[in-house]
Amino acid sequence: MSPRGPSDDDAPRPGPADTPPGERAADPSRPISSGARDDLAGSARTAPGARDDLVDASPPTPLDPLAPGKREPSRPLARSVARPPSAVTPAARPESTAHAGADKSSTGAPQRPFASVARLPAPDSRPSDLSRIRMTRIGQRIVAAPRVPWWGRLESRVITALVCLGILCVGASAYLVALTVQYFEGIVGSATQKSDDAVALALPFYDGYVKARKETYRARLEAMARELELAAARGELAADDPAGLRELLHELLRREPDLVELQAQGSHSALAERRALLPEDEGARIWVVSGPVPLNMFPGTGLIDQGSLGAIFALDPALDRDYQSLGMIKRGLDYVTVDGNVVDRGELERAVYRAIGAASALVLMVAFIAGFLLARATTRKLSMLSDAMLRVAGGDLLARVPELGNDELGQLGAAFNGMLDELASAQRKLSYLQRVGAWQEMARRIAHEIKNPLTPIQLAAQQLREKDPGTDENFSRLLRSSVEIVEDEIESLRRMVTSFSRFAKVPEAQLEPTVVARILAEFERAYGHLTERESDVLEVIPAPPSLVILGDRQLLKQCLVNLVENAVLSQRQRGPVHVRVAARPAEGEPGFVELRVDDNGPGIEPERRERVFEPYESTRKEGTGLGLAIVKKVVLDHNGEVRVEDSELGGAAVVIRLPLHEPGG
Ligand SMILES: Nc1ncnc2c1ncn2[C@@H]1O[C@H](COP(=O)(O)OP(=O)(O)OP(=O)(O)O)[C@@H](O)[C@H]1O
Ligand SMILES: [Mg+2]
Repeated sequence: MSPRGPSDDDAPRPGPADTPPGERAADPSRPISSGARDDLAGSARTAPGARDDLVDASPPTPLDPLAPGKREPSRPLARSVARPPSAVTPAARPESTAHAGADKSSTGAPQRPFASVARLPAPDSRPSDLSRIRMTRIGQRIVAAPRVPWWGRLESRVITALVCLGILCVGASAYLVALTVQYFEGIVGSATQKSDDAVALALPFYDGYVKARKETYRARLEAMARELELAAARGELAADDPAGLRELLHELLRREPDLVELQAQGSHSALAERRALLPEDEGARIWVVSGPVPLNMFPGTGLIDQGSLGAIFALDPALDRDYQSLGMIKRGLDYVTVDGNVVDRGELERAVYRAIGAASALVLMVAFIAGFLLARATTRKLSMLSDAMLRVAGGDLLARVPELGNDELGQLGAAFNGMLDELASAQRKLSYLQRVGAWQEMARRIAHEIKNPLTPIQLAAQQLREKDPGTDENFSRLLRSSVEIVEDEIESLRRMVTSFSRFAKVPEAQLEPTVVARILAEFERAYGHLTERESDVLEVIPAPPSLVILGDRQLLKQCLVNLVENAVLSQRQRGPVHVRVAARPAEGEPGFVELRVDDNGPGIEPERRERVFEPYESTRKEGTGLGLAIVKKVVLDHNGEVRVEDSELGGAAVVIRLPLHEPGG
């Protein structure tokens, strides 16, 4: 990508990897004027003069190399010195180039943020201790965390709580049902007792009544037998006249309304019966058999002698029905009607208890399943959270909690992710600043080492030219051209030294309330000429005066200079340049302002938009790749961010986002 690719490595490279700068500076044999050394060594970072020089004295310098005919575009020596070894990445940078303030984390393996979390048990730990520890592998690491016993897990606790609740509910309802049953049992029991008492009281009366009726029937039957005997004695009935006997029986039957049947037994039998009194409906009448009583109508004749008379009476069942219904009432208390079916009360109670048992089992099962699902949903989220936390503890700062919904756990996960994003961004910023710091130190040393010998070399070259005897024309021509080359390279090296020094001398930002509009106005006044050619346009849009930031005016102006230079240089070979500098409140982010430099150049490919901010990343032959690194360092010092995006002018837009200053905030 960079035109100073691997082929540049062929050139001689007196860089810091070959000869440590300290050693060269200490070499007493080198003809370095102490004044020149002091010049660089004394470039105090915080001296106000140095800061003013940075902005006010140097704007045209970066554009100078492009002035036509000033120098040839590339020279091996210049390139090889200007470009520190590109293979030296911050992670693999030798300590010798990155000491002096840069700590180990900027040169070696990335720091482990929470090193103390993954503590493994000592090797001599007893097995019982090990069984209480859960090992989780996270990438190459093994993280130890206390193992939670099953009864201590949230899942088990929620299930147990729900099952206990279920048991409590079921127990309470069973108890209530039992109480209710007992209550009604008491009511029904006392009713049954009363009915038993009533039945017991009524029974003797009923028995006496039935007995009296039976005796009455027997007395009436005996009276009828005497009547028959009397009729026979009076001669109203002949001994050999069975029809007459039957007639008499019928006569008695007609006279006694409740008599159903009358039957004489003996030598002559006769039967008289009345079907009308036969019960047509069941229970309409009760038949009471009476007799037989002795019947001796013709004593001494042998006729119907030693006979008998029997009868059946039809009894009105009203009393019996009352008695029966009393018993039925008693029995009715032992039964209940359910959906038209008569069911034994005891059986019904047993069924109720069985139903309660089944309902209890169902409730417990539902409680268990609901508890399991509920606990599962919660613990699943918790375990996702704890997994992410363990991974972060293991050093994986890219770990994130997946979307967990809108409940408190979801908010916790989102907050955790937000915190990690902040942490990652702070870490990126820190590591960038550390990297830039290390590069600044190296630039300072290189500039120092290169600058010192330049003056003696230049003097020596001038002397060579002056001392030319002029006797040999060919020799003189060769000498002149060689001296020119040397002087060109010296000039080139001087520019590079200036560039390195400026990079090394970027001071700490002095933050104070600053009106953004003023920065733009001052920039336009001082650097409006940056575009040189008539056809070029540099637009500076006035900013609203309300935008105030905590910033360093000089440094921010320097950033704008660097960005406008880049914009101009990127388009210069292609045609008229159009650059626009503007500041406006950040869209959708109240509390932030955006400084933008848009251009109509070729733009920057998306995959390079991060990389261009790395020091020494350049595609320009004359560039050192430090302009954007300075911009990013300054912006980070302002707690801001810088990014590259597509410009509405067709090229690249570099956007600097800075927090607005809230007075008293
Ligand atoms: N506006 C731009 N349009 C296109 N490319 C750009 C633009 N700005 C920067 N770049 C690219 O980013 C690289 C790095 O820019 P940076 O300003 O850091 O270094 P440089 O301009 O090459 O050198 P220096 O600024 O130190 O003289 C440039 O070489 C160029 O490839
Ligand atoms: Mg630049």
